[in-house]
Amino acid sequence: MTYSNKVSKIVYGGDYNPEQWSEDIWEEDMRMFKLAHIDIVTLNVFSWASLQPDENTYDFTKLDKIMDMVRENGLKVCLATSTGAHPAWMAKKYPDILRTEINGLKRKFGGRHNSCPNSPAYHKYSVRLAEKLAERYKSYDNIVAWHISNEFGGECYCENCERAFRVWLKDKYKTIEELNRVWNTAFWGHTFYDWDEIVLPNLLSEHFAPERTMFQGISLDYKRFNSDSMLNCFQEEYDIIKKITPDIPITTNLMGFYPVLDYQKWANHMDFASWDSYPSNGDSMAKMAMSHDLIRGIKKGEPFVLMEQTPSVTNWQPYNALKRPGVMRLWSYQAVAHGADAIMFFQMRRSIGACEKFHGAVIDHAGHENTRVFRELEALGAELEKIGNMTLGAKTDAKAALVFDWDNWWAVQLSAGPSCELQYYEEVLAYYTALHSNHIPVDIIGTENDLSGYQIVIAPVLYMTKGNYDEKIRQFVKEGGTFVTTFLSGITEEHDLVITGGYPGPLRDIMGIWVEETDALPKGSENTFSYKGIKYPAKLLCDIMHLEGARALSSYETEFYAGTPVIVKNEFGKGSSYYIGTSSNGEFYEEFIKDICMEKGVKPVCATPKEVEATERKNESGTYLFYLNHGEKENKVVLEKDYQDILTDTFYYKNEELSLKARDVMILKEAADA
Ligand code: GLA
Ligand code: ZN
Repeated sequence: MTYSNKVSKIVYGGDYNPEQWSEDIWEEDMRMFKLAHIDIVTLNVFSWASLQPDENTYDFTKLDKIMDMVRENGLKVCLATSTGAHPAWMAKKYPDILRTEINGLKRKFGGRHNSCPNSPAYHKYSVRLAEKLAERYKSYDNIVAWHISNEFGGECYCENCERAFRVWLKDKYKTIEELNRVWNTAFWGHTFYDWDEIVLPNLLSEHFAPERTMFQGISLDYKRFNSDSMLNCFQEEYDIIKKITPDIPITTNLMGFYPVLDYQKWANHMDFASWDSYPSNGDSMAKMAMSHDLIRGIKKGEPFVLMEQTPSVTNWQPYNALKRPGVMRLWSYQAVAHGADAIMFFQMRRSIGACEKFHGAVIDHAGHENTRVFRELEALGAELEKIGNMTLGAKTDAKAALVFDWDNWWAVQLSAGPSCELQYYEEVLAYYTALHSNHIPVDIIGTENDLSGYQIVIAPVLYMTKGNYDEKIRQFVKEGGTFVTTFLSGITEEHDLVITGGYPGPLRDIMGIWVEETDALPKGSENTFSYKGIKYPAKLLCDIMHLEGARALSSYETEFYAGTPVIVKNEFGKGSSYYIGTSSNGEFYEEFIKDICMEKGVKPVCATPKEVEATERKNESGTYLFYLNHGEKENKVVLEKDYQDILTDTFYYKNEELSLKARDVMILKEAADA
């Protein structure tokens, strides 16, 4: 069930917390929402304490009033279940609900997102609350989505989690012998004889730093278990709500590349994906775009909801710079350009106390509409009304895919060696950035996705090659696809046990090489290689390899392995594979990606100046081209087809030169016969 068919335009609004304000303010909120063309509010995100003041009392009086008021004012509702922060009385009465940190410290009541995912009290009361909410508000036809909890995340190392971990392991491995095998416990005499001997891997046991472990297999399984434990919390609320309101789609707000939860697995349990986008100062346009593409990718290309972003400023970064004039609009449309069907904010009215009083909001502390931020919001709201349903449900047609896999992320980051500088995310971002600057539409996919619709599949640092993934790649290349992978690939299977016989293990025949050794270069030191006559750096890790059918396109230039291959191409079946044996810089990746796209006939959306992002979305009503000028100066684009601007209705013709002001956006609909 998707979300897009519940709405008739890109909905506009966000987290609204009237419970923090007196009722006379609510009326004013309604007036201002209308001014800004706000048509949706996310309600009830942190109201558990007021909805359930003690174990046996539930009190919905205030929420009833709020629900009625917003309905009377024509607003749609994204209804949260409030289980993202438990009440103080519950922590006092049921201390098992409190989390234990990685260092063994048992938390007291405080903060939020603070419940142990394996606490019996949490399960009982969160599900009960979700059920009561669904029962109470099921007849409100303005509810367009359920929002379970809020930003699930974090970890717990309490005794309930420890017991649950043993159950999870038993379920997965069945016998203690199998567990000993997959964890390689013969190492350091770790053999387990009984499930009860297993303890959680934390700073009291296998870890010597939060992300540094002596037993990768154990820590990796803990990460999977923790992600599953939280998913189980989500699922229990989901199931009960679904029973009562089968026609309302359910989501929870994700956080982009969030290392703790395997969102690709989670997405299989969510009706639609939604996420909270809070770029840091100075994040590149490609980095922001990659997160949107991830969220679109986890639901196999379905449109997503931008559940939160700040209209102006955050409170939690070291330096909370204001979004410059135009940036809120630009970044909102960037989300739409990558697949969003909703633009929502945290928060509607800026609170007066606690840590978010300096967080931006639609309605500022000044309390009126005469602010820069409000004026910008109003203008964007009017545009979204004009766009109406045109782009709803539109898809991105990508012929290139970038593989990102959570198990692999965990395994790479937990690994002791070969380099403490290795960041899986950064290596993937480098390739994404190259695709992005070439304006190549790309899907970010997991290892479960089908590869057959793609021409090019890039899997940087595919260190862990799970299950039959190599076979999927083999078929893809045999049938004519281009596959790219890099240094440190094909090393381990899904338990992080090395696949012996020569790297890159199961990928060896596809890549046509044998990697004998890997050299780690300290930060600041470089080898070099040349590609099409230009010298590029070889950094971080340098695989030293032998050709077994592949052809060297470039070789290392220094060190004892000078003259040995670094970039190789292998013809395999009807397709080809490229192995990039090192980490290089953006210039190299941009050039290399351009070449392989050209070779495969994978076309850019269109040509634009560097600072102008271009994407395309298609639905039954047409094809939409988004131009987003991320630059601080005017940029010009030349049209490659005939178009109509959907914001101004102006017609433009092929070869016409258009000028985009600093941070400006244009959405052009392809002329039907173009
Ligand atoms: C997250 C939360 C919100 C709010 C914002 C602040 O996204 O979901 O409740 O705290 O951060 O940026
Ligand atoms: Zn716990």
